[in-house]
Amino acid sequence: MDITTTPAWSAALKNAATISQTTLKDLFAQNSARAESLSIEVLVGRDAMFIDFSKQNVDDHAVQSLIAVAEQAGVEQKRNDMFEGVVVNGTEHQPALHTALRAPEETSVNVNGVDVMEEVLRVRAQVNEFAESVRAGRITGATGKKFQSVINVGIGGSDLGPTLVYEALSSSCTPAVQVHFVSNIDPAEVRSVLRECNPETTLVVLCSKSFSTAETLSNGRIIADWISDSVGATNVSKHLAVVSVFPEKAASVGLAADYIFPMWSWVGGRYSISSAVNLVNVIAFGSSAYNDMLSGMRSMDEHFMTAPLQRNAPVLMGVLNVWNRSMLGRETRAMIAYASALKSFASYVQQLEMESNGKRVTADGNPVSLPTSPIVWGGVGTNAQHAYMQLLHQGTSVVPADFIGVAATPTHDDEVHDALVANLFAQTQALAFGNETDPHRTLPGNRPSTTIMLSSLSPRTLGALIALYEHSVFVQGCVFGVNSFDQWGVELGKKLANEVSAQITAPSQSGGTDASTAKLVQWYKTHRSNT
Ligand code: F6P
Repeated sequence: MDITTTPAWSAALKNAATISQTTLKDLFAQNSARAESLSIEVLVGRDAMFIDFSKQNVDDHAVQSLIAVAEQAGVEQKRNDMFEGVVVNGTEHQPALHTALRAPEETSVNVNGVDVMEEVLRVRAQVNEFAESVRAGRITGATGKKFQSVINVGIGGSDLGPTLVYEALSSSCTPAVQVHFVSNIDPAEVRSVLRECNPETTLVVLCSKSFSTAETLSNGRIIADWISDSVGATNVSKHLAVVSVFPEKAASVGLAADYIFPMWSWVGGRYSISSAVNLVNVIAFGSSAYNDMLSGMRSMDEHFMTAPLQRNAPVLMGVLNVWNRSMLGRETRAMIAYASALKSFASYVQQLEMESNGKRVTADGNPVSLPTSPIVWGGVGTNAQHAYMQLLHQGTSVVPADFIGVAATPTHDDEVHDALVANLFAQTQALAFGNETDPHRTLPGNRPSTTIMLSSLSPRTLGALIALYEHSVFVQGCVFGVNSFDQWGVELGKKLANEVSAQITAPSQSGGTDASTAKLVQWYKTHRSNT
């Protein structure tokens, strides 16, 4: 179904035209209950998340019409299908069952007649057991020394999620080991990490769902050789754990079963942080932090499943993003976290959203008839204020923004933390209401934002925050009508990289490429060995 041909879509578009004639200042003046009715609190165990949508350019009519769009797009049925293991990723003939990874133990989720929960719980227990053994020194390197460093080797979903969780939890909890991340196929990156580690006391967690990603395999080889030089080739397996859908490939390089952590083809890479992909953080922060993070994700899953659509945080967030992108034509969205511990959150959401919904055809292969995923970008406040916020306040493009803040600081610098949060709130005010002075100093205001506050940055709230975005991306995908769980657009680049590599290593210039790339290859070959 093309959503843009439905009466629900036309009604919402009409509201978009009306809203464009009004301002946030007017909308607040007209409705004293606006801040109340357009915000939602979601309880996350003892913690809470508060989401304020009231500074978005919507009124009650607009919200109602967007909920009608979500209904028309079948969001509820599709959500239930996803949770139940129905094939929702048509081009790869797979369910998308990241929610099963944090489902309560008594749940049963069937894929092809098999309850996957048994395996999920077995691997979850294996992750916890292995991590606790490393932490306690029961699992050591080949020379019997306790592991001091863990290097996570992975890219995309096998890197961004673990990095985000590591940075976020480090703010309140001291990691039991030094943690490093290697992702890029840039030898300078891996070599600089190795300079900081001792091979005898280093454990490598190689995360690759496919076990075929060039970057990860290349980095894995460099690190394995470095360990081998120190402890001997036959002992490398004591320093290497693998997380993959293909455990047999890990077994074929000599790893024992305890060091191999299965994941499943029904978990998308960018949705995999609740799987064994999080192993590095379970080692760093312990199994109880992991279990708490899963429980926070579960809280958001339950909210998404049970809250009425008009009070459902991922649904509202999803349809408001569609409103901004597809109805009001906002091409990008900024993500600004007022917590340095969340400095990688924008990169995490960037992959989640752009790889999921950056699509030009619908799930059944027809051209989409509306703009799909916005470009997602961002960073950390207050740094953002001294870099690019100028454009958000006075530039010619309207850039909706998500602001994320934390109420309780893990340090005792309460006054400084107050200043941080005051800056967050002030930015949303300035964007929404602006000011009027001379032309250079005037801020037009009426620029939309959503504010998400966490009571504290704990494993639980972090899990809930991640699940909030996962589900809001899903809701947008339902409305866009795309398959949010494949990523065919990245394949051509991988194939061409192999072909260009062959051209670079060929002794003489070979044909078969365009003139620009041929020239680049030639220039590179002339200069690469000159330094
Ligand atoms: O190239 C894109 C991608 O497939 C992402 O979707 C994924 O997160 C990343 O590469 C890493 O893939 P893998 O975990 O299979 O190495």
